[in-house]
Amino acid sequence: MFVKVNGIGLFGINTYPVQVESSIERTAIPRFDLVGLPDIAVREAKERVRAAMKNSDFFFPNARITMNLSPADKKKEGTGFDLPILIALLLLTNQLHADVQNSVFIGELSLGGYVRKIDGVLPMVIEAKQCGFKEVFVPMDNVAESAIIEGIDVYPVTSVKHLVDHLTGRKCIEKAKPDLVKPRFEMERVMVDFSDVKGQFQVKRALEVAAAGGHNTLMIGPPGSGKSMLAKRIPTILPDMTQEESLETTKLYSISGLLDNGHSLVTQRPFRSPHHTISAVGLSGGGTVPHPGELSLAHHGVLFLDELPEFPRQTMEALRQPIEDGKITITRVSGALTYPCEVMLVCAMNPCPCGYFGHPTKKCTCAPGVPAKYLSKVSGPLLDRLDIHIEVPQVDFDKLSSNVPSESSAAIRKRVNAARALQQKRFAGTETTCNAKMSPRQTREFCEIDDTGKVILQRSFDTLGLSARAYDKILRVARTIADLDGSDRIEIEHLTEALQYRALDRKFWK
Ligand SMILES: Nc1ncnc2c1ncn2[C@@H]1O[C@H](COP(=O)(O)OP(=O)(O)OP(=O)(O)O)[C@@H](O)[C@H]1O
Ligand SMILES: [Mg+2]
Ligand SMILES: [Zn+2]
Repeated sequence: MFVKVNGIGLFGINTYPVQVESSIERTAIPRFDLVGLPDIAVREAKERVRAAMKNSDFFFPNARITMNLSPADKKKEGTGFDLPILIALLLLTNQLHADVQNSVFIGELSLGGYVRKIDGVLPMVIEAKQCGFKEVFVPMDNVAESAIIEGIDVYPVTSVKHLVDHLTGRKCIEKAKPDLVKPRFEMERVMVDFSDVKGQFQVKRALEVAAAGGHNTLMIGPPGSGKSMLAKRIPTILPDMTQEESLETTKLYSISGLLDNGHSLVTQRPFRSPHHTISAVGLSGGGTVPHPGELSLAHHGVLFLDELPEFPRQTMEALRQPIEDGKITITRVSGALTYPCEVMLVCAMNPCPCGYFGHPTKKCTCAPGVPAKYLSKVSGPLLDRLDIHIEVPQVDFDKLSSNVPSESSAAIRKRVNAARALQQKRFAGTETTCNAKMSPRQTREFCEIDDTGKVILQRSFDTLGLSARAYDKILRVARTIADLDGSDRIEIEHLTEALQYRALDRKFWK
């Protein structure tokens, strides 16, 4: 006797169909072999399935059973194959009669016969749909993320009995409905607003430009000037996510096990702010059970590094390439994994250990040479990748105590959204998502400047000592400023504002 049951394999964020092929033979010595490159978790499925069957009032056969997880040359990981293995055993032993050709089974079993939540169900359901299957059975606790996908019937399962009753038609499970999908909601964001920040008009303007074009940004200033406060409010002015962006980010949260059943769809751009003690794996991703790092969890959102010089040099250097490429590759024994990480990087720092280097009135108390050493912790190449540099000065007492309301996040966000809409139109049909991610070729096509502009740029290059990389960055930021202005052309005022955001190089990093 021979049966085939469908499951889905997951490697990083990549999925592939797996068939559990099984055969049974009567022998004197019972045996259960599982082949097809299973990892430890998959091998242990045998024990979980055996117990789950017995505790659900089914018998475990006294025979020789061989199961192959096909394709046999791909390493299988995780606990999601428990359910297809169990269904195969029930079919093999005639304890279940059902046609499961067009069905996919995903889920882990508890010894008591219950179906448990696993990570990565969303990309698996997408795979099942793409393979043309009609229906997919998922753990009840993963139903909300599964319901995001239309065009395949999703059945939430609580236990072995629940599933078998459905398959035999004794008692049908109700299909998951799209209204189960709830946006992932972060309370913290509702509590803060840009109107809490008094004064700081220039900094707010720079952050508006950054959010509109997705530009990497550095804030530098003395202690208590409000850098962390401003950064915390960036999520409130980020542009809406497109559906595609939302789904891509949700997939990463699904494989990281960060979706709970109440909040299944990431609809707010993520804002991740890892502490400087974070490990390389925590930031980039990896580990024995591979998980996306903070970089990837910030996909289509913001990665905020507060107190930048406190991050180990190695960590900063490891960021450079992924920030540029929008993806990160992790090498593992079982092969290389790639996770997307299109992020807007925001960094904040003091100019020196005491915090007052370059301050107009207060005196820096650091020993000579110390500020320069502190600043040099941020390497030139990383600095180059930060498109917008902005100084955050201390706000005077008058402004702090004034009751004049500042502009709200909602008002700023409206402009940001309008500018982002122009960019979506500009880059329709390409992989580029915003001005900051333009290729050199697109930069030449979309960021034309006239002769006067060229002269101004040339002159600033000489006086500011800018690198070649900075040239394109200035043009891209100028493009965003023009977009905020609703202007097709990049005018001189757009260009000069963009140049302003590079002037700090000179003040602090000569
Ligand atoms: N512009 C402002 N409007 C209102 N409150 C402000 C402003 N600037 C600073 N504050 C107040 O000062 C506090 C300290 O600011 P914050 O922690 O953001 O400073 P920081 O620049 O990150 O300092 P550090 O360099 O020490 O980390 C804020 O929590 C806020 O209460
Ligand atoms: Mg701070
Ligand atoms: Zn100092």
